[in-house]
Amino acid sequence: MVYERPWLYPKQRAAIFDCKDVDGLPSRYAFIEASTKAGKTSACIAWLFEQAIQGKRGHNFWWVAPVYAQAKIAYRRMKLGLPRDLIKTNEQDLTISLITGQVIWFKTAEKPDNLYGDDVYAAVIDEASRAREEAWHAVRSTLTATRGPLRAIGNVKGRKNWFYRLARMAEAGESGMSYAKLNAWDAVAGGVLEKAEIEDAQKLLPEHVFKELYLAEASEDEGNPFGYSHIAACTVDGIAETDPVAIGIDLAKSIDWTVVIGLDRFGACCGFERWQKTPWDVTTARVGELIGTTPVLADSTGVGDPIVEALQKGRLYVEGFTFTAAGKQRLMEGLALAIQSRWIKFPKGPITAELELFEYVYTRNGVRYSAPEGYHDDCVMALALAVEKWRQVSPAMRDAVLPLSVPKTDSWMGRDGTTRREADRYDGPEYDLSDTGDWM
Ligand SMILES: Nc1ncnc2c1ncn2[C@@H]1O[C@H](COP(=O)(O)OP(=O)(O)OP(=O)(O)O)[C@@H](O)[C@H]1O
Ligand SMILES: [Mg+2]
Repeated sequence: MVYERPWLYPKQRAAIFDCKDVDGLPSRYAFIEASTKAGKTSACIAWLFEQAIQGKRGHNFWWVAPVYAQAKIAYRRMKLGLPRDLIKTNEQDLTISLITGQVIWFKTAEKPDNLYGDDVYAAVIDEASRAREEAWHAVRSTLTATRGPLRAIGNVKGRKNWFYRLARMAEAGESGMSYAKLNAWDAVAGGVLEKAEIEDAQKLLPEHVFKELYLAEASEDEGNPFGYSHIAACTVDGIAETDPVAIGIDLAKSIDWTVVIGLDRFGACCGFERWQKTPWDVTTARVGELIGTTPVLADSTGVGDPIVEALQKGRLYVEGFTFTAAGKQRLMEGLALAIQSRWIKFPKGPITAELELFEYVYTRNGVRYSAPEGYHDDCVMALALAVEKWRQVSPAMRDAVLPLSVPKTDSWMGRDGTTRREADRYDGPEYDLSDTGDWM
């Protein structure tokens, strides 16, 4: 039986198979930071299998993924790639045994304690930036007696994780270690990803997400999802004296603030009010006065619900938003996109302070956005809700997120019947719109 390695594009092959350390020797530990869909898993499946066929009867080889479901996917993919008469598989244990007696195990990093004890002759840690650090400690210990090699592959996911730290150590040239990066453009050159697909992702995703997921680069604004330079570029001295077309409201829960933010048709903040420690009926009346007949998106989570219901009486344009983890993530990514695309303007003060303090952390279930412990986030929430509503009511924004190939210069025309001439008649105060994007 002749095994033939699946075709890998040159950079993919080099990253996983031709790893050399600082002394030019084959590296025992290789750390590969890569774009999503760059072919990390595929190449490592081939690598681990090749390690196994070079092993001896009874030798164990490990594939470790952050959660069981991911381990199972890799198991299935390897199983499908191998000739039936060469292997025996066990779906229960997630093992693939070669007829020559070597065993490849697919394991989860969820319970690192269960990873201790074995002697392992080669291991892959897939999605390493999402796997627990304790799992790496355990895997390292299993490779001790055998001096087995390791491939750790994953996306960049912030700087505060073991994979990032070790990748930097490898990159700095530690003997026995090597580092490689495969970004989305490498995968495009290798024929695995399509250029248009990457350009589309770049257009739609917040910059920090695109940078990490597709370029395999940690964001400079460590932990800040908006970016300090972008926040600064959207900051103006005062509040515009124009009429709002969209309003976002974050209702105070207990000690925090109720914040109302209005955006005008150009995305400039033209209304910003906040108050604290006020009875519900007063808050309801005050909000009612502020919103007039402007479309509203208001936080209706928990205690906000009765207020939003009261506001909705006789007002069809008041919409409630119930915060869920996924909903909040989407809302925050919309805000990050608006700030990074410089679609909006806001006054210096509490809004900018909260934006600068805001943080994101990756969790197993996605990205969690919040103010640091002990800080407020009501202005950020109100602004995000306002932006969401503003994008709904502003046809220009729908065009602005279409792929590059769609002409956007006349986006004020069509759709809702508004014409560019009407837009030109805008007679509000002058503020700098020169860098709000090419659709203006
Ligand atoms: N050399 C290659 N030639 C052709 N197709 C490939 C090659 N390498 C990977 N692919 C295909 O590209 C897709 C993504 O590959 P793979 O799952 O290995 O990438 P990944 O970087 O692990 O992605 P993820 O971000 O989902 O973990 C798969 O459909 C795979 O079959
Ligand atoms: Mg993968």
